[in-house]
This record gives sequence, structure tokens and C-alpha cells, in this order.
Amino acid sequence: MGSLEKQVVLITGACGDIGKATALAFAKHGACLALNDLVSESGADALVSEVRRLGAEAMYFSGDVSNRKAVDHLVSSTVDKFGGIDVCIGNAGIVQPSAFLDTSEENWNKHLSVNLNGCFHVGQAAAKTMVSTGRPGKIVFISSWVQDVPWENLTAYCVAKSGLKMLAQCMALELASHNITVNLVAPGFVNAGLSGRLFKENPGLIDQAVKMVPLGYLMSAADVAAAVEMLCSPAAAYMTGATLLVDGGNSLFLRAKNS
Ligand SMILES: NC(=O)c1ccc[n+]([C@@H]2O[C@H](COP(=O)([O-])OP(=O)(O)OC[C@H]3O[C@@H](n4cnc5c(N)ncnc54)[C@H](O)[C@@H]3O)[C@@H](O)[C@H]2O)c1
Repeated sequence: MGSLEKQVVLITGACGDIGKATALAFAKHGACLALNDLVSESGADALVSEVRRLGAEAMYFSGDVSNRKAVDHLVSSTVDKFGGIDVCIGNAGIVQPSAFLDTSEENWNKHLSVNLNGCFHVGQAAAKTMVSTGRPGKIVFISSWVQDVPWENLTAYCVAKSGLKMLAQCMALELASHNITVNLVAPGFVNAGLSGRLFKENPGLIDQAVKMVPLGYLMSAADVAAAVEMLCSPAAAYMTGATLLVDGGNSLFLRAKNS
């Protein structure tokens, strides 16, 4: 994927497991990385150093993707530093499991603000820059297999990811004439990041999850990063509005109650 050399790649939620794996994958291709997360600049030092050690340029911008002003600042700072944006990866996300009857308005709003609004903000701001600079672009959102499969105790998360799928499809439709593609990666059970932490808290869940995966093992953050890379490579030139489902086949199962 030599075509990514010197391409400007913006990644939100870059200090998390999937964000970091993605940043390192793009760094190996010599991309210029604009990295965002909530943590302070010093909290991102290790990631920025690792990216630079791989020979890539990197800048870190702390900011909340659910805040439009913060996202506009992130995008304009990226343009000031690197001259434009070629690839935008909306990855920042949260999960706070809650049974539907117990789901608070705060829990609901938080999922939509970060997981859905955050991608709207960064996707729109990046697309405006791509259009105004006349650069073709690639936008990839990290969704989840639950964008299409309702899942217990995850109503707000599932709804946000389902909305994200439609956001990507609408963007793909309107941005195609600007030579911008918009696609989603839908991972399954990742043994890292959000679900990795849930697995650590409840080790019994790992066995249950593995039983649901026809390939017989959980995926890694690097597997997600590889799918993002693929969507940003020439192999995906004719893909837009599409979901790349990377779940080891687990959405092929209908889970039996209490299995
Ligand atoms: N881990 C999984 O099993 C899994 C499965 C499917 C999809 N995903 C998706 O992958 C993405 C990355 O998740 P992860 O598993 O690496 O989790 P993670 O917690 O390791 O990383 C998420 C990162 O997003 C950052 N973040 C949270 N809120 C933010 C905000 N408002 N603004 C900016 N940054 C913010 C966090 O600080 C964190 O560094 C998420 O969108 C998640 O929904 C994860």
C-alpha cells in the first residue's frame, strides 16, 4: 500500500487499542498522522514516539469528538500542519452496558454523542476540507457487528452503531461526486479495547464469546486495523457506503437464550 506514503491520516480515539493498532499500521506505510483522543498531550507521548520511531510524522491533538468546536480545531490544526486530509478514521467510542429498562437518559445521550455525533462531526469537517482542497478522500468509521444485530444490555450502543451505518451510507451517496468514499469496518468480538476490558472483568464471558465464533478465536485490534488498511488501499477503490464485516462469522449465529 505504498500509495499511503505521505498521505495525511486523521484518527480519533487513537490512544485506545484499536486506534493505536491502526495508527501503527498506517505509520508503517509512511503516512502523516494526526492523532486525537481525550487524554492530555503527555498521555499520548508514548504513542507519538512509537509512530515517529517507525519513520512517520505524527501530531497529537487532545479533544472530545462530541464537541463540534473541538473537532473543528482538530481538523483545522491538521490542515495547518499537514496541508489537508486524505484519510479520516472515526474510531473514538465508548460502551457502558445497561439493561434497557435501566438505561438512563445520560447513558443514552453519551453513546449517541460520542459514537454517532462524534463521527458526524469529524466526518463532515474532514469532508469539507477534502472538497475545498480538491483532494480525493477516504472516510472510514469503526462500527460494530451489532450495527445489524440487537444485543442484550447494549441498546444505546447498538442504536448508535446502527445510526452510524446510515450516516456512512448517506455521506457515501452525497460525497461520491467529490471522489470521497465512506465505508465502515464492523468488528466482532475483539480481545482488546472496550470488550477486552469487559472480558477481563468477567473472564467467563471469553469462553461464551469464543463459542459463538465459527473461526474459533477472538479477533485482535490488529485484525481491525488490517480491515481499515484494506478499505484505504486501491483494492477498495470501488467500495463506498459498504460495511466490511470482520467478525470471524459470529453474526452467522442466532444466540440461544442464556447460552
Ligand atoms: N473492542 C471491541 O470489541 C470492539 C468491537 C466492535 C467495535 N469496536 C469499536 O472500536 C472503536 C475503538 O474501541 P476500542 O475497543 O479500541 O476501545 P478503547 O477504549 O481502547 O479506545 C477508545 C478510545 O476512544 C477514546 N474516546 C472515548 N471517548 C472519546 C471522545 N469523546 N473523544 C475522543 N476520544 C474519545 C478513548 O479515550 C479511547 O482511547 C470504538 O468505536 C468501538 O465501538 C470495538
